[in-house]
Amino acid sequence: MADGSSFYITTPIFYVNDVPHIGHAYTEVAADVLARWHRQAGERTWSLTGTDEHGQKILRTATANGVTPKEWADKLVAEAWKPLLETVDIANDDFIRTTDERHERNVQRFLQKLYDDGHIYTGEYEGYYCVGCEEYKQQSELVDGTGEYAGQLVCAIHSKPVELLHEKNYFFRMSAFADRLLALYEEQPGFVQPESARNEVVSFVRSGLSDLSISRSTFDWGVKVPWDESHVVYVWFDALLNYVTAVGYGEDDEEFARRWPAHHLVGKDILRFHAVIWPAMLMAAGLEVPRGVFGHGWLLVGGEKMSKSKLTGIAPEQITSTFGSDAFRYYFLRAISFGQDGSFSWEDLSARYQAELANGFGNLASRVIAMVNRYFEGAVPAAVAPTDVDLAIAEVERRATDASWEAIDRFAIHEAIAAVWELVDALNGYITEQEPWALAKDPANRERLETVLATAYHGVGTLAVLLSPVLPKATAKLWTALGAPGSVQEQRIDRAHEWTVGERVGTLEALFPRIEAGE
Ligand code: MSP
Repeated sequence: MADGSSFYITTPIFYVNDVPHIGHAYTEVAADVLARWHRQAGERTWSLTGTDEHGQKILRTATANGVTPKEWADKLVAEAWKPLLETVDIANDDFIRTTDERHERNVQRFLQKLYDDGHIYTGEYEGYYCVGCEEYKQQSELVDGTGEYAGQLVCAIHSKPVELLHEKNYFFRMSAFADRLLALYEEQPGFVQPESARNEVVSFVRSGLSDLSISRSTFDWGVKVPWDESHVVYVWFDALLNYVTAVGYGEDDEEFARRWPAHHLVGKDILRFHAVIWPAMLMAAGLEVPRGVFGHGWLLVGGEKMSKSKLTGIAPEQITSTFGSDAFRYYFLRAISFGQDGSFSWEDLSARYQAELANGFGNLASRVIAMVNRYFEGAVPAAVAPTDVDLAIAEVERRATDASWEAIDRFAIHEAIAAVWELVDALNGYITEQEPWALAKDPANRERLETVLATAYHGVGTLAVLLSPVLPKATAKLWTALGAPGSVQEQRIDRAHEWTVGERVGTLEALFPRIEAGE
């Protein structure tokens, strides 16, 4: 936590072979909440997302649809991937496509440097390739197929047959970096998070690192290898570089120095690429390694990773069209411990929407604003003589502010939300006990009523600030109703409890309206 320090966060760049499902939206939302939170803590924040458009997987999909891969990618980016950002309300700073010129020419620059410095050699490779993963697989990563693939070896992730490839390729001497990688994991224990992910990566590298095939010559949908145009760069090698080409690598040293290194947020399926291959590439190029790699869990359906290829994908709009983007953001980050897998269920989503968002938070905000209107004609009261119970609320505000920021700093988003919810619960308990509606019946209690509503009003304002990264739409409405100065997103979240109160409240419609069954 430092004023003006830099926080650069990335999402994986998404394959454009298909449209997004809620698993992809989950990654986007998590990165967005972290970015908004850090931005609101006064850090120089930069959030990057984008699309991964080269490689065989995209080429095959495009061919099957009778268009060129670039036409296919343009269509998917315009019709599906950019709209996703609107659907779940992402405030990204940049969107990179691997077909952007700024990316392609600097991938070549990077590769040329590694080649000139002797990190690349020519070799031959034979192995099983999974086009779904865009990766060569070890025998141990394959399983026997079932159903239409019975009798064949299939990828354990995609359950689809792998292909035996034999090619002349260029290789990156990755094995030379094994010791430096192990030293990195040792010296920066937080480099790979969570702990389970770190252990997996460390034992993978300990068991021996091979060199990496970084070019393909049997198709041409990719960035050309600069010294041998009969090869294109391996799609992962190309894709990982988006994190540096987007912030000026090779062209704008000042911008690069201002942003890099990044924190990478990725699903656990692509952890090794980010925690092993990527830092080795950066070491070879003499660049700083990332600040860290956080591997989040999967959204599961029937115990398996939700995926379009297995026809278990749920489109994000199916949820947002009924519940709204705020509820989408809240639900997945609140219900799943960040870093663990989680199952989605409509019942759980509806129950949390009603209990936590509508009744817990929304209703609290509406009641407090309505009571200030009813009992004080909209003028925000001041606390006259706060007692221990009132001061206790101020203390919960301070605690929620500190605890949530501390949790965000460790990427524990669910803990941050839980810490804020202690304030929601404390305020609801406070209002039930203090019964402002009863105080309002007797003018002799006027000062007490002022103190109680001033305390509740202040607590609700603190909630607006603390929840704005997760619930940007609802908290903006609430902020306006509170009559507080500026916008909620300008308020310092690491000092949320110190916000400046307004003079008059407005009116507030239900932040989370009741959803009728069947809607
Ligand atoms: N293109 C690569 C990433 C390159 S990054 C240099 C890729 N793309 S992807 O579209 O397949 O996946 C993007 C992200 O979505 C990954 O982090 C992946 O873990 C995440 N998810 C895909 N399905 C998911 C779930 N069912 N649940 C949670 N996240 C999921 O991999």
